[in-house]
Amino acid sequence: MKNKRKLFLTLVFAIPLVIIFSQCLTNNEEKADPRGELYAGSASCIKCHKNVYDSYVHTAHFTTTRPADIHSINGNFNNNSNSYYFNKDLKVVMEKRNKGLYQVAYQKGKVIEAERFDIAFGGVKAETYLYWKGNKVHQLPMSYFSALHGWTNSPGYDGDHADFSRMIGKRCFECHSSYIKNLPLQTQSLQAIEEFDKKSLIFGIDCERCHGPAANHVNYHSDYPDEKKAKYIATYASLTRSQKIDMCATCHSGNTTRMLKSIFSFKPGDNLGDFKEIVFSHQNIDSAKLDVHGNQSQLLASSKCFIMSKMDCATCHNVHKNEKQNLVLYSQKCTSCHNTPNHNECKMTPSIGGIIKNNCIDCHMPAKPSNAIAVQTAEKGKVVPYLVRTHHIAIYNKVSITVINNLKKYNLLQADK
Ligand code: HEC
Ligand code: HEC
Ligand code: HEC
Ligand code: HEC
Ligand code: HEC
Ligand code: HEC
Ligand code: HEC
Repeated sequence: MKNKRKLFLTLVFAIPLVIIFSQCLTNNEEKADPRGELYAGSASCIKCHKNVYDSYVHTAHFTTTRPADIHSINGNFNNNSNSYYFNKDLKVVMEKRNKGLYQVAYQKGKVIEAERFDIAFGGVKAETYLYWKGNKVHQLPMSYFSALHGWTNSPGYDGDHADFSRMIGKRCFECHSSYIKNLPLQTQSLQAIEEFDKKSLIFGIDCERCHGPAANHVNYHSDYPDEKKAKYIATYASLTRSQKIDMCATCHSGNTTRMLKSIFSFKPGDNLGDFKEIVFSHQNIDSAKLDVHGNQSQLLASSKCFIMSKMDCATCHNVHKNEKQNLVLYSQKCTSCHNTPNHNECKMTPSIGGIIKNNCIDCHMPAKPSNAIAVQTAEKGKVVPYLVRTHHIAIYNKVSITVINNLKKYNLLQADK
C-alpha cells in the first residue's frame, strides 16, 4: 500500500517535471545563439538593462534588417500606388498574395517573374528587399525611397528591365545584421556563389555587435546579483580613443576597402586594421575625395574639431536612443565645447542672435548628395539625390548664406529686428 502510494506520488510529481524539463530543453535549443556559446543574445540583457533595451529596440540600428511583412515595409500595396512602369509594356507590381508579399514583373500584361519580399533592409531614407532562392539571397528590383514616398528602381539598376538576378553576399549582412553563416562553397571557382544557412540569420544590429560576446558577463552577474561592477565585458571608458572609434568604424568607414577577415567577429578592443584595409589616419585626409556615404569616421577625422580635441562618436551620439533629427540636442553637444567662456563660439553669433543655438548643424555639417547612390524616378531622366550629413565639420560659406537667407525669409534673424 505504502509503496503504491509512493509510486503514485512519484508519478504525479515526475510527470510535470518531465514536461518542464523537456520544455527547458526545447527552449534552450531555440535560444542557442548561432554565433556560439560565448554569445547570450540581446533578449538576455533585458533582465538587468531594461531601460537601455527598451529604448534601443526603436533605433535604426536594431531595425536595419527584419523579416519583410506588411508592418515592416514602408511602401504601399494598395492599387494605384503599387506599380512602377519601366515603359508602357513593362511594369513591376507590388502584390499581396496568399503566401506573402510579392514583386511581380509583367510584360504586356503577362507575368514574367514573381518573387517574395523576404528580408527588409533600411527604412529611414531608403528601403531595399531581398528574397531567398534556395540558400542564396537576391535583391528585388524595386526599392522604397522615403523622399519620393514611393517605389523606385533599386539603386544602380538599369532603367530598361526588371532585374531579379543581383546576388547578395555576406558583406551587406556584416554591416546590417548581427550574423549569418556561410555554407561551404559548392565549387572552388572564383565565380562561386555564396550560400547561407537561413536559420543562422540574426536580424538587426544587436547589443553584442557593439559590446562583444557577453555570455560570461550574463552568467557571472546572474550568479552574483550583488556585484555592481561590470565583469567580463569591455567597459567603454577603458578603451583608447582609437578603439572607441573602431567600435563604430567597423561599419562606418565606407564600403570600398579590402576585407581581411569577417567583421562579424570584431569586438571592442580589437584593431580594425586586422579586419579591413582602411585609409585611416587621424590627419591629412582629403575630405573632398571621400564619398559622404557611410564614411563618417574618416570625415570626422579630417575635421579640426576632432584633431584638436578628444572627441569620439559617443560625444555626440547616444546610440541607445533614436535621436534622429533632434538638431537642438546635437547643437548642445557643439556648445558644450564652443561657448563664450572657452572663447571659441561661432563668429556669427552676434549677427544671428539667440536662435543660433538651435541649429549649428545645417551650416557646419550640411547634408550633401552621395556620389555612390542616386535614385532614378519613374519620370525618365529625373534623379533624386541621396542626402547624407557630412561629418567633415567645417565652415561652408555658400551653405551658410542659404541658411541665413532662409532665416531672413521667415523673419528670424536677430539683426533684422
Ligand atoms: C544579471 C544581470 C546582467 C545581465 C543579464 C546583463 N548585464 Fe550587463 N551589467 C550588469 C551589471 C551589474 C553591470 C555594472 C553596472 C552597470 O553598468 O549597470 C553591467 C554593465 C554592463 C555594461 C557597461 C560596461 C561599462 O561600460 O561600464 C555593458 C556594455 C553591458 N553590461 C552589456 C550587457 C549586455 C550586452 C548584456 C546582454 C547580452 C548584459 N549586459 C546583460 C549586469 C548584467
Ligand atoms: C554592425 C555595423 C554597425 C556598427 C558597429 C555601428 N553602426 Fe551605426 N549604422 C549602421 C547601419 C547599417 C546604419 C543604417 C541603419 C538604417 O538606417 O537601416 C547605421 C546608422 C547609424 C546612425 C543613423 C541612425 C539614424 O537614426 O538614422 C548613427 C547616428 C550611427 N549609425 C552611429 C553609430 C555609432 C556612433 C556607432 C558606434 C558606437 C555605430 N553607429 C556602430 C551600422 C553600424
Ligand atoms: C551601435 C553600438 C551599440 C549597440 C548596438 C549597443 N550599445 Fe551599449 N553602448 C555603446 C557605447 C558607445 C556605449 C558607451 C557610451 C558612453 O559611455 O558614452 C555603450 C554603453 C552601454 C552601457 C553602459 C552605460 C549605460 O548607458 O548604461 C550599457 C549597460 C550598455 N551599453 C548596454 C547595451 C545593451 C543592453 C544593448 C542592446 C539592447 C546595447 N548596449 C547596444 C554602444 C552600443
Ligand atoms: C561597410 C558597411 C556597409 C555595407 C557593406 C553595406 N552597408 Fe548599407 N549602409 C551602411 C551605413 C553605415 C548606412 C547608413 C549611413 C549612411 O547613409 O552613411 C547604410 C545605409 C543603407 C540603406 C539605407 C538605410 C536607410 O534607413 O535609409 C540601405 C537600404 C542599405 N544600406 C542597403 C545595403 C545593401 C543591400 C548592402 C549590400 C549590397 C549594403 N547596404 C552594404 C553600411 C553598409
Ligand atoms: C569636444 C569638443 C568639441 C565639440 C563637441 C565640437 N567641437 Fe568644434 N572644435 C573644437 C576644437 C578644439 C576646435 C579647434 C579650435 C577652436 O576653434 O577652438 C574646433 C573647431 C571648430 C570649427 C572651425 C573649423 C575650421 O575648419 O576652422 C567649427 C566650424 C566647429 N568646430 C564647429 C563645431 C560644430 C558645429 C560642432 C557640433 C556639431 C562642434 N564643433 C563640436 C572642439 C569641439
Ligand atoms: C560633433 C558631433 C558629432 C560627432 C562627433 C559624430 N556625429 Fe554623427 N551626426 C552628428 C549630427 C549632428 C548628425 C545629424 C543628425 C540628424 O540629422 O538626425 C549625425 C548623423 C550621423 C549619421 C546619420 C547620417 C545621415 O546622413 O543620416 C551617422 C551614420 C553618424 N552620424 C555616424 C557617426 C559616427 C560613426 C561617428 C564617429 C566616427 C559620428 N557620427 C560622430 C553629429 C556628430
Ligand atoms: C548661418 C550659418 C551658421 C550657423 C547657424 C552657425 N555657424 Fe558657426 N560659422 C558660420 C560661418 C560662416 C563661420 C565663419 C565666420 C567668419 O570666419 O567670419 C562660422 C564660424 C564658426 C567657428 C569658428 C570660429 C573661429 O574662431 O574661427 C566655430 C567654432 C563655429 N562657427 C561654431 C558654431 C556653433 C557651435 C554653432 C551653433 C551654436 C554655429 N557655429 C552656428 C556659420 C554658421
